[in-house]
Amino acid sequence: MINKKVEKALNNQVKIEAESSQAYLAMASWAECNGLNGTALFLYEHSDEERQHMLKLVKFINERGGTAIIPELNKPTTAFKGIKDIFTTLLSHEVNVTKEIHEVVDVCLKEKDYTTHNFMQWYVSEQIEEEALARSIMDKIGLIGNDKGGLYLFDRDLEKLSTVAPANGPA
Ligand code: FEO
Repeated sequence: MINKKVEKALNNQVKIEAESSQAYLAMASWAECNGLNGTALFLYEHSDEERQHMLKLVKFINERGGTAIIPELNKPTTAFKGIKDIFTTLLSHEVNVTKEIHEVVDVCLKEKDYTTHNFMQWYVSEQIEEEALARSIMDKIGLIGNDKGGLYLFDRDLEKLSTVAPANGPA
């Protein structure tokens, strides 16, 4: 049976990943409504990834003899001032997620649950990548400033960063 404190920490992380998915879905929808189709594509895909992060946790908890709790979610922010606002929010959200992941790892070590500790290493690595990506996007936004042409190219760049081709993307 999974350790109860570890189970609780993992279930808390289920909620965080689910809320991340909702937060990025709201950003994607806003971008789509504001003519930023590449940004929307990138964020829709990011939202899907967060759902996969959540599912991976749900399945792990259940497989280890625990009970995954599918949580009620807080309403995400749905209005944004622009891409800078979106990606500033995204980066600070990811920094917070990293902190939460480290909390789970901490509980694993305190409870000597080395199996879950090993499982969580995937999330630790994933956070390094997610934060690096968000920071590189913020750097690009910093370069653009208020340049409309730059914004157009930025949007196209994000489309290229998405693995789903636009034609196969969300209709
Ligand atoms: Fe699953 Fe972006 O943290």
